[in-house]
Amino acid sequence: MQHSAVLNVMIKAAHRAGRTLKRDLGEVEHLQVSLKGPRNFVTAADRRAEQIVYEELAKARPAYGFLGEEGGARAGTDKSHRWIVDPLDGTTNFLHGIPHFAVSIALERDGAVVAGLTYNPANEELFIAERGKGAFLNDQRIRVAARERLADAVVACGMPHYGRGDLALARHEIAAAQQNFAGLRRYGAATLDLAWIASGRLDAYWERDLSPWDLAAGMILVREAGGFVSDCDGKDAVLTKGQVVAGNDTMHRELLRLLKAAGNEASREPSKEAVAP
Ligand code: IPD
Ligand code: CA
Ligand code: CA
Repeated sequence: MQHSAVLNVMIKAAHRAGRTLKRDLGEVEHLQVSLKGPRNFVTAADRRAEQIVYEELAKARPAYGFLGEEGGARAGTDKSHRWIVDPLDGTTNFLHGIPHFAVSIALERDGAVVAGLTYNPANEELFIAERGKGAFLNDQRIRVAARERLADAVVACGMPHYGRGDLALARHEIAAAQQNFAGLRRYGAATLDLAWIASGRLDAYWERDLSPWDLAAGMILVREAGGFVSDCDGKDAVLTKGQVVAGNDTMHRELLRLLKAAGNEASREPSKEAVAP
């Protein structure tokens, strides 16, 4: 399949970073049995992958801006274009040798995401999309699932942990999902959750407390695969609010309805858990 010049740049960067992460994954498994544990190592792995992605993208498009999870924002002379990069999404999975993690790269033009890529080097699955050109997995066109009944559908979500996020709200939302969907999944890599919506493996997904690099590429993958993406109030402030609800038209609408009802229930409940500042 012929890719555009900008996608070729993104694919080359993701493959190069993916090679070092695959090698590091082996090390991580080894390191997990050693004294210090992998955490420091992984951090080095995140940074190394981001540096590789930055070098490849900067070589091809030196004027573009860059926002990366590890290195933060780097301004470019071309104020219209900005890369948004998560060099290793699914760090906790990676730490445990769970082969479910990804390199994620998105290109923003004048504030709108116009191209996105999510690559899992462990199984070599490359998800790509460009505005108006559709979404693909390993060069095969992908579409969101067509399921209409919640009772047949599998939904994925994030789960607040380590004192992050609103535990009471999450408990109500998860209970509502358990009562209505055929299955509930927590996979631990937001970029892959969205890529799996785009490829029809998952029917619906929601999560809060995310960052632009967790969301940007996945947003265009789902939309170019015929799906719907919004924040938890059904608005288009996904990147600014750090929230996402995704699925086909029916799943998106139904999940928003469930989250709203769960939110009302949670707000009626006297708060027990202190939410971390
Ligand atoms: C995390 C993963 C996880 C999500 C967290 C993210 P990271 O990204 O996407 O699934 O629940 O909120 O921070 O830290 O592994 O790049
Ligand atoms: Ca990351
Ligand atoms: Ca991430």
